[in-house]
Amino acid sequence: MFLPTNLHNSIESLLKDTKSKELKNSSTHITDLYREGESLTESQDLLTYLTVRLPATYAAIHTVLKEIPFKITSLLDLGAGPGTGWWAAKEMWGEIEATCIERIPEFVKLGKRLGCPHYKLGDVARITSYEPHDLALFGYSLGELDEIDLKPVWEAVKCVVIVEPGTPRGFQNMLAARDQLIALGGHVLAPCPHSKACPHPKWCHFSVRLGRTQLHRQAKQASLPYEDEKFSYVIVTKEALNQEIPRILSNPKKHTGHVNLQLCMVDGIEERTVSKRDKELYKRARKARWGDSF
Ligand SMILES: C[S@@+](CC[C@H](N)C(=O)[O-])C[C@H]1O[C@@H](n2cnc3c(N)ncnc32)[C@H](O)[C@@H]1O
Repeated sequence: MFLPTNLHNSIESLLKDTKSKELKNSSTHITDLYREGESLTESQDLLTYLTVRLPATYAAIHTVLKEIPFKITSLLDLGAGPGTGWWAAKEMWGEIEATCIERIPEFVKLGKRLGCPHYKLGDVARITSYEPHDLALFGYSLGELDEIDLKPVWEAVKCVVIVEPGTPRGFQNMLAARDQLIALGGHVLAPCPHSKACPHPKWCHFSVRLGRTQLHRQAKQASLPYEDEKFSYVIVTKEALNQEIPRILSNPKKHTGHVNLQLCMVDGIEERTVSKRDKELYKRARKARWGDSF
C-alpha cells in the first residue's frame, strides 16, 4: 500500500530541508519513545513522524476502515496527529465532514500544511460531549490516553474504530476499549465474529505491507523497499451488523493438497485443515490471507 500521491508529495516537500543525520537521529528517538510508551513532543520528531510512522498508521487505518460495510459521511478523529485518519477516510468515502481533535499545536500546524482543514485543538481526556458524527476513530492514540471514559464519544456516533499497535500493550489497550464499548451496548463488527470475551491466547493482531519511500528508508537506515505494520483493532457499532463470519488469525499455511487455517469462530479459536477434496473451500483457502474473514 502507498500513500495518496498528493499526501506523499506534501510530506516530501515539508521534509526537503531536513538533514539526513537529523532524520536518522529523530527516527531512532521516536522508536525509543514509543518503546517506553511515551508521546512525541519535539518539533523534529513530529516532522520525522510524517515519513517514518504516518505511512504505516495510514496503511493500518485504511485496512481497518475497509471493513465498514456502510458509507460514512462524518468523522470524529480523536488524537488526529497530522490528519492520518482523515486522509484514510477521504480515500475510502471521498470528501466527508470531519472534526480532527489534536492536543499538540505543532501537529495541528503540520496537519493543516499537509491539507487537512478540519482541526480542533483540544484534549480528548477533558471533553465531555461531542457533536454527532457517523464514526469516531482512535488511530494509534488510545494508548496515549489514560483510562479514558468512552461514553461521551459513544453517545455521539454510530460506530467507533480503535486501531492500536499490534503489540501486547496495544492489544490490551484495544481490548479494554472493546469491553467498555460492549458494556455501553455496542456490537463488535470486526475483526471478531462475536461480541463475547476475546478467546485469543496471546494478542490478536494483523499485518499490512506498505511501500517505503527513499526518505523513509534513509530515516530508518533500512534497505528493504517495504515494511510490515502490525496492528490490533476493533470496530464497534450501535446496530448489530455482525454476520458471524470466522476471521483468519495468522498467515494461512499452504501445503500440497491442504491449507491450515487458524480461525476465530463464534465459539472460540479453531485450527482448521481445508483439503483439496473440498474443492470450492480449498480454492478460497489458497487465496485467503491473514486478517480476511473466511
Ligand atoms: C501516535 S499519534 C497518532 C496520530 C494519528 N492518529 C495517526 O494515526 O498517525 C497519537 C496522537 O494522539 C494525540 N493525543 C494523545 N493524547 C491526546 C489527548 N488527550 N487529546 C488529544 N490528542 C491526543 C497525540 O498528540 C498524537 O498526535
